[in-house]
Amino acid sequence: MKRVRPARLGDVTLLQELEVASFSEGFRAPDNFFKSVINDQSDAILLVAEIDNRVCGYVMAMLQDGSSDHIDLHASERSVWQIVSVAVHPERRGEGLAASLLEEAILRAGKQGGCARIIAEAHVNNVASIALLTASGFQPIKRLSRYYGNADGIRYDRPLFGNTRPKHPAPRLT
Ligand SMILES: CC(C)(COP(=O)(O)OP(=O)(O)OC[C@H]1O[C@@H](n2cnc3c(N)ncnc32)[C@H](O)[C@@H]1OP(=O)(O)O)[C@@H](O)C(=O)NCCC(=O)NCCS
Repeated sequence: MKRVRPARLGDVTLLQELEVASFSEGFRAPDNFFKSVINDQSDAILLVAEIDNRVCGYVMAMLQDGSSDHIDLHASERSVWQIVSVAVHPERRGEGLAASLLEEAILRAGKQGGCARIIAEAHVNNVASIALLTASGFQPIKRLSRYYGNADGIRYDRPLFGNTRPKHPAPRLT
């Protein structure tokens, strides 16, 4: 059975294993990061996806006030939610887990109130991440030069409420 739930301290070891399986060195969350987010989730959402009680994926979102990461807020905004990371165990990819995680994170971010938009970034060559964001109603808004070391990123956004934008093929930003 598949379910999405908030992460608990008991999940930290599996979350760290997921990082190793999903991201190359230098792009992984530091060891104590998951623990500190689970202990203080006031401005963060950390959800795991389980299949038959086994953690197979996670999503982390954080409330950003625009002071970090070159995040441009709209004139009417004081903050935006940001998908910081999403990962699914290699053996469980392609089963809709990441889409379910994003959907639940977006729902919870909307319920917390205070902002109306959520952003996310993808490596320009990360086909799976771009497909996931596009399928989840995100739209590309900005190319981020050298966002991942020497490689560029693409920033996406979508509203937290109301109709999501229609699905469309991921465009090329120059
Ligand atoms: C990106 C990632 C989280 C996707 O997880 P997933 O559970 O396999 O994704 P889903 O099964 O929910 O797929 C969601 C959508 O993306 C598409 N998609 C997923 N992987 C894809 C791939 N490799 N190529 C093309 N499309 C892909 C799916 O077809 C689906 O679209 P649809 O609804 O239009 O059919 C997973 O590949 C991963 O963990 N990658 C390593 C970590 C990473 O790069 N994270 C993203 C940056 S933080």
